[in-house]
Amino acid sequence: MSSSGKSSDSSSANQKLWGGRFSESTSALVEKFSESVSFDSRLYRQDIRGSQAHARMLAKVGVLTSADAEAIVAGLDAILAEIEAGSFVWSEALEDVHMNIEARLTDRIGDAGKRLHTGRSRNDQVATDMRLYVRDVIDALVPLIDRVAGGLLDLAEREADTVMPGFTHLQIAQPVTFGHHMLAWREQMLRDRSRLLDCRKRMNLLPLGAAALAGTVYPIDRHYVAEQLGFDGVTENSLDTVSDRDYAIEFCAAASLILIHLSRWSEELILWASPMFGFVDLPDRFCTGSSIMPQKKNPDVPELVRGKTGRVIGNLNALLVLMKGQPLAYNRDNQEDKPPLFDTVDTVSLCLQVYAEMIPAIKVRHDNCRAAAAKGFSTATDLADYLVMKGLPFRDAHHVVGSAVAHATRQGCDLAELPLGELQAFSALIGEDVYAHITLDASVAARRSYGGTAPEQVRAAIARARAKN
Ligand code: ARG
Repeated sequence: MSSSGKSSDSSSANQKLWGGRFSESTSALVEKFSESVSFDSRLYRQDIRGSQAHARMLAKVGVLTSADAEAIVAGLDAILAEIEAGSFVWSEALEDVHMNIEARLTDRIGDAGKRLHTGRSRNDQVATDMRLYVRDVIDALVPLIDRVAGGLLDLAEREADTVMPGFTHLQIAQPVTFGHHMLAWREQMLRDRSRLLDCRKRMNLLPLGAAALAGTVYPIDRHYVAEQLGFDGVTENSLDTVSDRDYAIEFCAAASLILIHLSRWSEELILWASPMFGFVDLPDRFCTGSSIMPQKKNPDVPELVRGKTGRVIGNLNALLVLMKGQPLAYNRDNQEDKPPLFDTVDTVSLCLQVYAEMIPAIKVRHDNCRAAAAKGFSTATDLADYLVMKGLPFRDAHHVVGSAVAHATRQGCDLAELPLGELQAFSALIGEDVYAHITLDASVAARRSYGGTAPEQVRAAIARARAKN
């Protein structure tokens, strides 16, 4: 329980807020089985905010006296303080966060507390709490994403000229700049950011007023509640409203993509930190040692991010399957939306925090990056492009360079290490100026198409990004 204080477990039929029609008390096993307060107490802030808006609205339309509404609002403020101080007593017998708070309100203010639930149901109440919660979470995650993206931009600037191998099929393909690689990561985060904001926009409608499933007989003013709670409007259809969990699924899908991105970065960092690559040093404070092998420095943090990604994808799957068989309208199944959602929220925000701190501390080992790029004939395409420039059709140039690569492989050297005479055996078009085209720096500098890897393009991309912020 997030901010739980003590908890008590007394149960008797008439103690339940819904106990009127029951002649025996709930079995202890069923109480344990069906309670949600052990996890949904996390929604207390949203629950209180929603109830206060509801009470003010009921007074505005004349369903409650303003004295009652004021007592409710003040009572809920006091309960908020109790919960935050850890002195609130959560009771499993009271099932969920909603009934725990409502029961306490009635303890504190008497009959006015019993009037709060007029014109609403827990079905629209929990839908309201959940939307407020997911919205609050998105508002907290976006600045975290901005920190990660900002860190990548700084690192890209620092390493705009650093040459490393670019890979396709994990085989050395063409040289790229480290800065360009960091900007690629950043693009993934920017899409994640806009996905979260899309989700926020679509979900930012008030459910309250749908009541149990059919709406309510009271002359409620849903738009007034929406305004108080910062919603852009109200949901259209009461049946849909109490059963809809699309926003939780959309959020978990967006969160899964965030983690998929972080997991892919992790995979690269794990490879790069391995002595076989040696492209980066991760800070010691982000690594751990081995209990048996004294030389080990293990990249546990990226490994854990990669591992936690599986759980978050599993949570998304749990929500999809939770919803697939549900008829309209509310079903108790929906209570099971919370553990996967909450776990996703905790995991994605921790992983983003870890990356926000780790990125600025990544040390790039320039010599190793360059040496690796010099292997694997990474400038073979540049030799072909050189021949094209001299008038050879690209297909023929491709063939010529293939033969030259085969020759260099037999010689055990790189293309740029072959003497001019040997290169000319493959094409008479090759002249002394070829060497200026097939060095690593010439290769990256030449890829100056928009969005390309040339340091000049990387700097232009960074400038555009900074101008936007
Ligand atoms: N704890 C419930 C949930 O999370 C609240 C709604 C309960 N509604 C009901 N009709 N039992 O879904």
